[in-house]
Amino acid sequence: MFDKMKLWKNNNDSIDLQDRIDNIKAQPIPEHVAIIMDGNGRWAKKRTLPRVAGHHEGAKVVRKITRFANQLGVKTLTLYAFSTENWKRPKMEVDFLMKLPSEFLQTFLPELIEENVQVKMIGNKSILPAATLKAIDEAIQSTAHNDGLVLNFAMNYGSRAEIIEAVKNVLIDAQSGIIDDEKLTEEVFSSYLMTNELTDPDLLIRTSGEIRLSNFMLWQLAYAEFWFTDVLWPDFGEEHFVEAVEVFQKRQRRFGGV
Ligand code: FPP
Repeated sequence: MFDKMKLWKNNNDSIDLQDRIDNIKAQPIPEHVAIIMDGNGRWAKKRTLPRVAGHHEGAKVVRKITRFANQLGVKTLTLYAFSTENWKRPKMEVDFLMKLPSEFLQTFLPELIEENVQVKMIGNKSILPAATLKAIDEAIQSTAHNDGLVLNFAMNYGSRAEIIEAVKNVLIDAQSGIIDDEKLTEEVFSSYLMTNELTDPDLLIRTSGEIRLSNFMLWQLAYAEFWFTDVLWPDFGEEHFVEAVEVFQKRQRRFGGV
């Protein structure tokens, strides 16, 4: 009897979720969703597992949420996979995080190609291990002709470093007369950032209850809607993504107007 009740409830939950998906699809879906995937370490600790077990589980969620975002019609999904500050972690954890993209892409790349996903990366490539870079570059190249969801990994990414790099390049171009103070608009400055091929995020999600940006897309998130949840990244599911989009759709974006 109890099991029957549970089954009934589960079926009802999934019917409910399908209704909610249909509802959000009937309204504008955020074009660019950026996610700070946080809480892998705490997820593992709660289960007395090593921290890397949380990252391993987190990578599975990357796969699930990429598929789901693609189904919903999201155009760009940016995932904060490794920050310029993450090098401070124990070597064993850093090594694991550096191996994740190759492992993930080894199993998932054929599916990404089939699903018309384009892989991109923002971040400083110069100090990434050769094997990590090779896996990412191969994925970028073999999905370059796709025109579906852009899956953009922020890998060794730091927003302040990105802005400083952009300013340096503006200064170089100013010296050679390509640009001057009158030509330097917000739009032109954006073209100097690593995100120059992307639109700005419409929605930022951060998991695990932390309410901060942690040096993530500081310029690009100027007008984004923020949604924070206590759910740890390895526990993040379609229903949480739907909730974030529902909240996004209820908010009135005024971009500084009235
Ligand atoms: C933050 O959680 C998470 C990270 C620094 C790494 C995020 C990486 C993944 C989710 C996997 C990425 C997968 C691919 C395919 C690139 P935390 O370790 O800071 O958690 P804590 O705050 O609970 O310690």
